[in-house]
Amino acid sequence: MKKQEREAKLKELHRRIRRCSLCFLSHSRMVAVPGRGNPNAKIVFVGEAPGNEEDKTGRPFVGRAGRFLDWLFERYGFSRRFVFITSTVKCRPPKNRKPRPNEISTCSSLYLKEQIRLIEPKIVVTFGEVALKALLNLKGLSKIHGLQIKRDNIIYFPTYHPASGMRFPDIRKKMMADFRKLRNLKTKI
Ligand code: URA
Repeated sequence: MKKQEREAKLKELHRRIRRCSLCFLSHSRMVAVPGRGNPNAKIVFVGEAPGNEEDKTGRPFVGRAGRFLDWLFERYGFSRRFVFITSTVKCRPPKNRKPRPNEISTCSSLYLKEQIRLIEPKIVVTFGEVALKALLNLKGLSKIHGLQIKRDNIIYFPTYHPASGMRFPDIRKKMMADFRKLRNLKTKI
């Protein structure tokens, strides 16, 4: 797909996401958080769901987990300007509860998978169990984090969620090792 066409289609998709009222989460959100970054990115990062700060600003990963993610990006040579960041569901679940299976399936099939189809990245990094299940229908992150899973011409790369890496030192170490691998993988695409 040509750059211009991709950018226009992604913009339109994000308009639809902002107006979406297909699930319960749309009733309690302040604003939807479609995602942000480069529409022509080679790497897409997928979190779980917007939190409080994201719900207020409409931007992904701008709270505490986002600051930890920025720290990882800086340390391993990634930039928000060149990647695309989004989440499995685009609206904040009330009191930050886990998104429910029907919310995940509606939102990810209509929006997340469409974003990936339009952007055509080489690598999709899933943060945490929710994104892993939504995109690859896999469980057991502790056994497969840091591995490459090839599907439909895309390398999926599961790692932990930055909110866990920020809280737990042992997870942080594993995330750092995964980001080292991801930095290497980036040089090969
Ligand atoms: N956690 C997520 O999964 N996504 C965000 O945008 C913020 C926190």
